[in-house]
Amino acid sequence: MTRPIVELAGIGHYAPARILRNAEFQAMGLETSHEWIVERTGICERHIAGPNDTTASMAANASRLAMERAGVTAADLDTVVLSTATPDRLLPATAVDLQAEIDASHAAAFDIGAACSGFLYGLTVAEGLIAAKSAETVLVAASEKMSAILDWTDRATCVLFGDAAGAAVVRPARNGKGILSTFMRSDGKLADLLYRPHGGASFPMSAEVLAQRTHLVKMAGRETFKHAVRMMCEAADRALDNAHLDASSIDLMVPHQANVRIIEATAKHAGIPMEKVFVNVGRYGNTSSASIPISLDEAIAAGRIREGMTVLLVAFGAGFTWGSMVVRF
Ligand code: UT7
Repeated sequence: MTRPIVELAGIGHYAPARILRNAEFQAMGLETSHEWIVERTGICERHIAGPNDTTASMAANASRLAMERAGVTAADLDTVVLSTATPDRLLPATAVDLQAEIDASHAAAFDIGAACSGFLYGLTVAEGLIAAKSAETVLVAASEKMSAILDWTDRATCVLFGDAAGAAVVRPARNGKGILSTFMRSDGKLADLLYRPHGGASFPMSAEVLAQRTHLVKMAGRETFKHAVRMMCEAADRALDNAHLDASSIDLMVPHQANVRIIEATAKHAGIPMEKVFVNVGRYGNTSSASIPISLDEAIAAGRIREGMTVLLVAFGAGFTWGSMVVRF
């Protein structure tokens, strides 16, 4: 079967109203500064979920916009795929809460756990389901309530992340538009560099776990940074190779938004000038797998992605997992 098999028919995003600015961390008792955070990461502020924002509700808000823009209703969906590292409950999958909330009454629903790479993993799974004719209209959502799993006493992690959601409707391709190539990889030998050590089935929640805060996100920042650059660079190369394209054919690169220095290193390696790179990490922080659909939605709204453009998506996250994709809009 030749590509494109599927297209991204509609995209939406949602961010909670509350904005937490860098300057507020000092008042929370953290030894940090706006200058340090901006210089090392490019982040100025991030959105934080309010009392009514759950992973499922944020995903539902983004999904409603994506469906409206694709011209489909929830009844048209046959599969709901939700990427998240912050499920609302450990059982069942949060995708079923999303399925219930939007009333996708004919849809299968399941979560994808690939951390920040999860949206690209989800799109790739959707493409496979549609290619096999197991599905025709797939909702791929990514929703992250990172504020619920951060250690707010750890300045090395809590300043980096934010809450938000994005979603896309994936349908059979028309007019040559859609996914031209995909690439996915993982290396679980490096899992301990960015993880939540305890609180899962191998080391269940206990008073000790709570006291030691080992159920919250831990990251070896500098090590993670090095792998992120290496893996994002590999991913950019592989998506281009798989699409038989070179960097000069790319109209816009939309990378995972973790740190502007990682984005710049990836763009430089790929030979894509920064004018052709979408960056919004300053306003959202790292929203894990939601960062790419949010960026796509904003890039379309800003006219930076227009019909006929060729876009390179590149992601990296806990696992480690990494992946990439070339999409014609
Ligand atoms: O979503 C994908 C996964 N995540 C990533 O890709 C993130 C990858 N890592 C990074 O983006 C960067 O490593 C960080 C932004 C996390 C850290 O930047 P860095 O330049 O690698 O700093 P560092 O971890 O080497 O720390 C440098 C210093 C340390 O102090 P000492 O040991 O040199 O005295 C840290 O304790 O900066 C200190 N530090 C801070 N200082 C002020 C760490 N966090 C902060 C902070 N404010 N928030």
